[in-house]
Amino acid sequence: MAFSDFFQFYCPTKLVFQPGISKDFSAELAHFSLTKVQVITDAMLVKVGLVAPIVEGLKNAGIEVVSIFDRVPPNSELKIIQECADEAIQKEVDGIIAIGGGSVIDTAKCVDILLTYGGDLVNDYSGAETLSGPLKPLIAIPTTSGTGSEVTHAAVILDASTHTKLSFVDRNLAPHMAILDPELTFGLPAKLTAATAMDALTHAIESMTSIQTNPISTALAMQVIPLIRQNILKAVLNGQDLEARSALMTAATLAGIAFDHSMVGVVHGMSHAAGGLAGIHHGLANSIFLPWGMDYNFEKCVETYAKVATLLGIKREGLSETDLARQGIESIKKLRAELKQACGMAENLSEAGVSQDLLEAITEGAVNDGTSFYNPREVVKEDLLPFVQKAFK
Ligand SMILES: [Fe+2]
Repeated sequence: MAFSDFFQFYCPTKLVFQPGISKDFSAELAHFSLTKVQVITDAMLVKVGLVAPIVEGLKNAGIEVVSIFDRVPPNSELKIIQECADEAIQKEVDGIIAIGGGSVIDTAKCVDILLTYGGDLVNDYSGAETLSGPLKPLIAIPTTSGTGSEVTHAAVILDASTHTKLSFVDRNLAPHMAILDPELTFGLPAKLTAATAMDALTHAIESMTSIQTNPISTALAMQVIPLIRQNILKAVLNGQDLEARSALMTAATLAGIAFDHSMVGVVHGMSHAAGGLAGIHHGLANSIFLPWGMDYNFEKCVETYAKVATLLGIKREGLSETDLARQGIESIKKLRAELKQACGMAENLSEAGVSQDLLEAITEGAVNDGTSFYNPREVVKEDLLPFVQKAFK
């Protein structure tokens, strides 16, 4: 692995893992001196009964839950954040508990900005390093194993008026604590389990090949790859497999810390574009684009992909470095075929219902995506288009 000239590592989020812990983490809460909190979540999680036991646990810990905001959509937007923040400010809460996936946790980060400092979210805080100091306590309780938002210092929010995604990046946006309770993912449907885990796998692999990769994020990513490879199918086939669910939740958090420091690359670039243009689920898009993005970067990443291959379980004996690296990509294709058989997850864009007419626009979107900057090979439209076409069928 090549060392870059400079790297830094900062992960202020306290991680607390234990099956069932979300129902009672009063010992951990004691460190925050919270009296009145807002719970931010989505309606589906309330409906399936995931939220009530956590709220009960908060009350038993002597904390008043004065607001339960459950209207966060799958792609959160500015209007919702404002409504949620207005409620938090009006009820004078002194902390936020986010229960949900990436959209809920990102919403909570932005609400926390407005709760702590007031002002206008877009004009005052969009972009990088805009906060003057720490935010009020935010505790993230993830209910999926994929985005890593519970440990990242970024939030991505939709501006519905312009159909663009706004990003907020600041060291103070990392949640103060993440409660990792794998039992919360027992009810996650098989396809969503597969897609979110493939998102985390993509975070790990792209964090190892980014131009900003560093030895610490690589160490974390190297732990993620075998955890996901050995457990993804088990969790897809049996959602109640505690061991597999624990492994995936841990892996997603580790991958979140890794890519929070190293960033991602062209696979995410293509996925962001396909998400914006065709509404395809982020994890599913990453699963579809991952081998083709690796193929695009192949010449620059032979050594790293050979390492990825061994982490995926390929035996090194008798193979050249290049052949081993190629086997790594083939192994990911094989994994996708297994996932398709296990839960019907699409292997290509056409199966995912994306129109062929969008391939050029997806390519263009990937070129213009912020992730291009960190990709090991320059992202050029004419060069990338054949790989997007390969992802179609
Ligand atoms: Fe991602």
